[in-house]
Amino acid sequence: MQVAAILLLLALALVTPSSSAERKCVLAGLWINDLGSNMTINSVNEAGEFSGTYHTAVTAGNGEIKISPLQGSQHRENNSNQPTFGFTVNWSFSDSVAVFVGQCFVDKDGREILKTMWLLREQVGSLGDDWKATRVGVNVFVRRALRRE
Ligand code: BTN
Repeated sequence: MQVAAILLLLALALVTPSSSAERKCVLAGLWINDLGSNMTINSVNEAGEFSGTYHTAVTAGNGEIKISPLQGSQHRENNSNQPTFGFTVNWSFSDSVAVFVGQCFVDKDGREILKTMWLLREQVGSLGDDWKATRVGVNVFVRRALRRE
């Protein structure tokens, strides 16, 4: 009888989805943000470094949008399941650079979400135009494709 009870508990533990606090937020994968921009993050290495690509849905310039490379790092000592990170996008179709900082969260339904803040520096021709060279904002990313466990 006791064995049956233990087996039942074990089975229940196996089928019960883990809570959001237990599930790890993983940066690698395909993401889409509130502007419709798509981002791919490749695997994060032992040092927390990663690379990827960014396909923005919008641009401040007139040039044709092209997929641009990104380089970033996830906090290494942050053993939390909801790590902080930062990455730089070096736009391949404009002379600007954007940096993003953020944190990966798992919401109450187990969905991963990246809350980020960005700073974009555009190249200007003179010191006098420096005042208009930076923009700032926030973006929220959700996972586009299911991640492999
Ligand atoms: C440029 O216009 O000079 C390059 C493209 C910038 C796109 C910005 S970066 C912050 C914001 N989030 C996005 O997904 N796209 C815009």
